[in-house]
Amino acid sequence: MKVERQLLTQGAEGRVYKADWLGHSVIIKHRFPKQYRHPDLDAHITRERMKAEARALTRCRTFGIKTPAVFDVNFDKNEIILENINNSITVRNYIYEAVTQNTAMDSPSMLNLANNIGNILAKMHAHNIIHGDLTTSNMLLISPYETSDIILIDFGLSSTDERAEDKAVDLYVLERAVLSTHPNTETFMTHILSVYKTAGGKNAEEVIKRLDEVRLRGRKKLCFG
Ligand SMILES: Nc1ncnc2c1ncn2[C@@H]1O[C@H](COP(=O)(O)OP(=O)(O)OP(=O)(O)O)[C@@H](O)[C@H]1O
Ligand SMILES: [Mg+2]
Repeated sequence: MKVERQLLTQGAEGRVYKADWLGHSVIIKHRFPKQYRHPDLDAHITRERMKAEARALTRCRTFGIKTPAVFDVNFDKNEIILENINNSITVRNYIYEAVTQNTAMDSPSMLNLANNIGNILAKMHAHNIIHGDLTTSNMLLISPYETSDIILIDFGLSSTDERAEDKAVDLYVLERAVLSTHPNTETFMTHILSVYKTAGGKNAEEVIKRLDEVRLRGRKKLCFG
């Protein structure tokens, strides 16, 4: 079936479109082949990422973690069709907007956002879901943003694991993304982590401890390559 679509983003791995599909407003994520990979390996990786994405989006929903509904997974076209979260913006754009309006990073609205992020990640990790690509672009807020829950997206690199190490790496990826994308966010990030620790599941304290080691490794890697 031919569906009219409007390009939203073009990434290294694929394209994201908005479309109308069987009366639903949807997002179509299309992954295209990587020329530098062997075609068989490429097909395998693409398939695994699509499966990981659909699986994690669905698992999150069963645990009350907000994610878009999965409508269709098409391995022939390398496409996954998701519910379009209408009237949403990414947390990244929400923070940019706040900065434009001179909102301080430690203001009540920002700390409320950090609070929501810490809680949702604690819940996700309590169910052993590792996101794999935590950034502020992969979290959405629905209007009115101030009172919105966090909606998590982009689970193509996700996995299921109970180890503190994997959870700590997940948080480290977020920390690097937040601090490098948004200036003066140290307090904001610290708040996310302290909420995560208090709200956390079984090994949350161990995860936060492990995060120190992951940071150290990250720094060494930066210094020595
Ligand atoms: N279900 C959705 N509802 C509304 N907007 C969405 C939805 N899914 C994605 N978007 C928008 O499209 C952008 C890109 O989507 P997404 O993060 O899933 O793809 P990507 O980063 O290109 O993925 P990948 O890293 O898997 O290649 C998001 O940052 C968001 O702005
Ligand atoms: Mg993304």
